[in-house]
Amino acid sequence: MQPPTSTPRRALLGAAAALAAAAAFRRPARPAPAAADAAGPSADAAGVSAGTHPYAGAGAALRHPGLVLPQLPHLLLLAYDTPGAAAELREVCERWSAVLDRERTALTATLGIGPAAAGRLGLVTPVPFADLPPLPGDRLDPALGGGDVLLQLTGACAQRLDALAAALEVPGLVPRWRRHGYVPAGPAGQTPRNLFGFKDGSANPGPAEGQWIWLPSGPCAGGSFLVHRRIAMDTTAFAALPPERQEAVVGRRRTDGSPLGGTREHEDPDLYAKTPEGRYLIPATAHIRLTNSRLDGGARMLRRGYTYTDGPGEQGLLFCAYLRDPALFVRVQERLAQRDALTPFVEHRASGVYYLPPPGPPGTALGASLFGPARYL
Ligand code: HEM
Repeated sequence: MQPPTSTPRRALLGAAAALAAAAAFRRPARPAPAAADAAGPSADAAGVSAGTHPYAGAGAALRHPGLVLPQLPHLLLLAYDTPGAAAELREVCERWSAVLDRERTALTATLGIGPAAAGRLGLVTPVPFADLPPLPGDRLDPALGGGDVLLQLTGACAQRLDALAAALEVPGLVPRWRRHGYVPAGPAGQTPRNLFGFKDGSANPGPAEGQWIWLPSGPCAGGSFLVHRRIAMDTTAFAALPPERQEAVVGRRRTDGSPLGGTREHEDPDLYAKTPEGRYLIPATAHIRLTNSRLDGGARMLRRGYTYTDGPGEQGLLFCAYLRDPALFVRVQERLAQRDALTPFVEHRASGVYYLPPPGPPGTALGASLFGPARYL
């Protein structure tokens, strides 16, 4: 594991170099773009929170750039259905790879495959791989979720992502839904805040916990899963709570993100700490108590949330969790739906689960391992 040494700017350039090396581009003959070209001066200006490169070390170049690089400020999710056969999907992936290969701005591109396509097209994906079961409290619009193919793009500029999406339009896919999210502007290098005003992403798995995110062995080694939910947030009702009640709902302080009873954002929450009267400092219904990994035998998920604002009443969180087993999401969400103090303020309106094939070594086309055996790790 590499120690965190870089300055933010150097880390970003290092990240961009890793992106150039690790993104699923398939033209080995062409030299990789210079790191500065790949990141572009706009990346810093856009306020990219460039921390150190997590999950560095052996195999890091084969990790998905969209999961491991510092979170870029804009997200575009493009979901499609594919009426064709595996050969047509392969052609799509190769054409997309050629377009992405020409891109010269800070960018990550991550391919996802929905469960129905995995089975129908006979793709190499983990088995079993099924849709999420219905979850309590869900108010899902099926047309706004799921899909055979998902392309997750992140970048420094929303307009650039839209332009790229236009360039990625190819025959053989039927657009299903698309959505844009952003990381609200904030101090560089700090955990971003969600629409409730709380830091979101503080307790993500660290570099030594990659085993919870990537599949360890077999033909899908280095692959992962994305669980995506579009979650509407009632900001008016939440804002009406007194600040200490808001903090009891989340289990953290609004100011600095520290867990109740603690003093630092990234310290472990003390779930046993009590007031002199014997009440838990982090209440039984607090969001961070019910999502704590101790309730799941230590299993973790990597969360990268983006805010969306689509008009009155349609704003919230584009929840993206990356994990090696979607069943973890189901267990956590079942707990949240029943007991989470946050639940009255949120509503899940769209959902999808996707297998993310391993990116493979430099020069590999997007999704290459879906079409035949490949062992990258
Ligand atoms: C709009 C809905 C949601 C909001 C506003 C929200 C907000 C937050 C906040 C503020 C934190 C504390 C800071 C942090 O560690 O990131 C947190 C932690 C967390 N949330 Fe959520 N969350 C939402 C939905 C979900 C869902 C659907 C899940 C999974 C089913 C989830 C899983 C987690 C996990 C695993 C943690 C880390 C807990 C820990 O280890 O301390 N969240 N969330």
